[in-house]
Amino acid sequence: MAVHQKRALVTGGAGLIGSHIVDLLLSEGWTVRILDNLEPNTHKFGKPEWVNPRAEFRQGNVQDYATMESALQDIDVVWHEAAYGGYMPEMAKYVLVNSFGTAQMLEIIRDKNLPVKKVVVASSQAVYSEGAALCPEHGHVVPLLRPAEQLRAGDFAVHCPICAKPTTSIPTPESTPGGGETVYALTKVDQEKLVLLWGKQTGIPTVALRYSCTYGPRQSLFNPYTGVIAIFCTRLLNGLQPVMYEDGGQTRDLCFVEDIARANLLVGTMDTLDGLAVNVGSGRATSVRDLAGIIADKLGVKIEPLARGEFRPGEIRSLISDISRARTIGYEPSVTIEQGIERYLAWIATQGTVEDYFSAAEAGLKAKGIVQAVKG
Ligand SMILES: NC(=O)c1ccc[n+]([C@@H]2O[C@H](COP(=O)([O-])OP(=O)(O)OC[C@H]3O[C@@H](n4cnc5c(N)ncnc54)[C@H](O)[C@@H]3O)[C@@H](O)[C@H]2O)c1
Ligand SMILES: [Zn+2]
Repeated sequence: MAVHQKRALVTGGAGLIGSHIVDLLLSEGWTVRILDNLEPNTHKFGKPEWVNPRAEFRQGNVQDYATMESALQDIDVVWHEAAYGGYMPEMAKYVLVNSFGTAQMLEIIRDKNLPVKKVVVASSQAVYSEGAALCPEHGHVVPLLRPAEQLRAGDFAVHCPICAKPTTSIPTPESTPGGGETVYALTKVDQEKLVLLWGKQTGIPTVALRYSCTYGPRQSLFNPYTGVIAIFCTRLLNGLQPVMYEDGGQTRDLCFVEDIARANLLVGTMDTLDGLAVNVGSGRATSVRDLAGIIADKLGVKIEPLARGEFRPGEIRSLISDISRARTIGYEPSVTIEQGIERYLAWIATQGTVEDYFSAAEAGLKAKGIVQAVKG
């Protein structure tokens, strides 16, 4: 059933994607409540100035039962964006915030008989691992994650699971078998399965949006563990070389945050894709090396990116989302990577001094094996 009332809870509504969903909902006449704990890794200086004053802001943790129960009162649609993300070293925290937080939220809605009419959950294309690929001999295949041993030997190709020939990446549709090969991805699989399964059991409509790499104004400039565009921008603005893992030939589907927010509004207000996982992205591939070049160009600096013979076990080589399903309800990415980078840099220019936090985080990432060296 389509939603006619317009009271929204946006968890993680102070963050990159959540805050753009909040703005869009307010502009569409919704009443909006935000629940966000202002995670210190992301919000170094507390509540950011972009939190829309027309929304009700509550600082609180999705792990806390009473906080969630109260935040869910008088809500028609929940956009569940709060999550612990990136390549953080903590394992247990991912499970607590992402998996446990989501399960508890669903339990509260069901047990307290709350009149929630829809739950939209932020999933990720990380659920696919390597996604879909083409083998010269076997056609359409779904390769496994590249073993750490292979990467350690300096072979970054994605091999056919049948004949081991190198494959080429093709757009990945939702029907592709899922993975969950990092702790983060595993908890994204949890979140989307919990929500979709609960929806079937309770009859409450649900949608899981599998976002591709999302960027744009408000993406944290402080978090050295996540957001390749933010990290490259802060490196270049400090006159430092962006550090690429592997050979920089990884490709990413980079999507501007306003397009992601629009997709959220579409699925939240239409019933066509209820009960489904839906890819949302740009549908285009950009290599990490090209990305470094685009940002340097836009900044007018001549700094080459650096590949130091390092890799991250579990990293995906190439993943492009097939966005045909989202297109059936009118979704269309509207901002190119060049336009999006320009808008992000224009926003960064309003944020005062930009520091490089990546250098300080590097030793910890290496000590914990999150970044490893290729054996030369
Ligand atoms: N940015 C991407 O590339 C991307 C890609 C795929 C999926 N996603 C998913 O989209 C969602 C939003 O991501 P984002 O890029 O806006 O990240 P973000 O870090 O900018 O925003 C997340 C927000 O959630 C809040 N939060 C974290 N833990 C919380 C907790 N325990 N209780 C309450 N609030 C908490 C943070 O303070 C932050 O404001 C996440 O679920 C993320 O996993 C993001
Ligand atoms: Zn093959």
